[in-house]
Amino acid sequence: MPYIYVTRRIPEKGLKLLEKQGWDVYIHEGELPPSREELLRRVKGADAILSLLTDKIDKEVFDAAGENLKIVANYAVGYDNIDVEEATKRGIIVTNTPGVLTDTTADFGWTLLMATARRVVEADKYARSGQWKTWGPMLLLGTDVHGKTLGIIGFGRIGRTVAKRAKGFDMNVLYYDPIKADKETEKSLNARQVDLDTLLRESDFVIICAKLTPENRHLLDKEAFKKMKNSAYLINIARGPIVDEEALVWALQNGEIKGAGLDVFEHEPKIHPELIKMDNVVLAPHIGSASEETRGKMAQMAASSIVSVLTGKIPENIVNPEVLKK
Ligand code: GLV
Ligand code: GLV
Repeated sequence: MPYIYVTRRIPEKGLKLLEKQGWDVYIHEGELPPSREELLRRVKGADAILSLLTDKIDKEVFDAAGENLKIVANYAVGYDNIDVEEATKRGIIVTNTPGVLTDTTADFGWTLLMATARRVVEADKYARSGQWKTWGPMLLLGTDVHGKTLGIIGFGRIGRTVAKRAKGFDMNVLYYDPIKADKETEKSLNARQVDLDTLLRESDFVIICAKLTPENRHLLDKEAFKKMKNSAYLINIARGPIVDEEALVWALQNGEIKGAGLDVFEHEPKIHPELIKMDNVVLAPHIGSASEETRGKMAQMAASSIVSVLTGKIPENIVNPEVLKK
């Protein structure tokens, strides 16, 4: 009987699909991920792993799992937690959950952008504090969003959906991505491909929507922040390590940029202590895809991928399609 190791309880919709098969499904319970030791122990003999972005799935895990392992289904669109190259070498399929979380994550990018520009978190604290005396001409002045220039780093599904929402705000959209969108897409989104320097220099809001790769680790460093407008905001809904967090703190402390909205951090769940002190920074604990609807769809997608692979079918959402040649 196939053994499926699920590294955290995910919505029922997904678990049901696995349990319906009558397979041996082990779910790691509790709020925290399994310890490394537990992960290595429980994975033994697994035919499939349903992993989260908090689980490092590497050579050691594949060794511990053994010969049976056919698929790692990551409950996320990003899969930088998995050594995909090693999986491919061993003929293990890796899947993610693209598409189902695109709109939800783009919505959250906008939530952070608006909250940062219009100081919603500060305003909420102030409103609750009892300090509010009267309507004030200078009270909590923010920055306009409409009509500004939005620079999108990473113009995949999520980046494009962020751009789509920018149309309603009459924004000028620039994007930085090695892949040029087709003319039709650029036209319909009113978006223009530029180099990173141009994007940094011209944007009022820079939003990161790229997947983490070895090439873009610390893409935003001290030099990059120096190029940005002093009035600009950085929004990150992708992966923390794309930004050098020390450099970001430096940029905020030195007025190189005006504020930041962050859903992801370089050393999650740790947040740089200086960021926590800053009023011009809005922080969220990596909840971009966290809507009830979307987390249910992600669970179904991850579980379906496992059902497909273990019943001899090919799922659509394979991140290492070259594995099929093996
Ligand atoms: C979340 O960060 C994801 O990659 O789905
Ligand atoms: C990235 O993974 C995206 O879906 O945009």
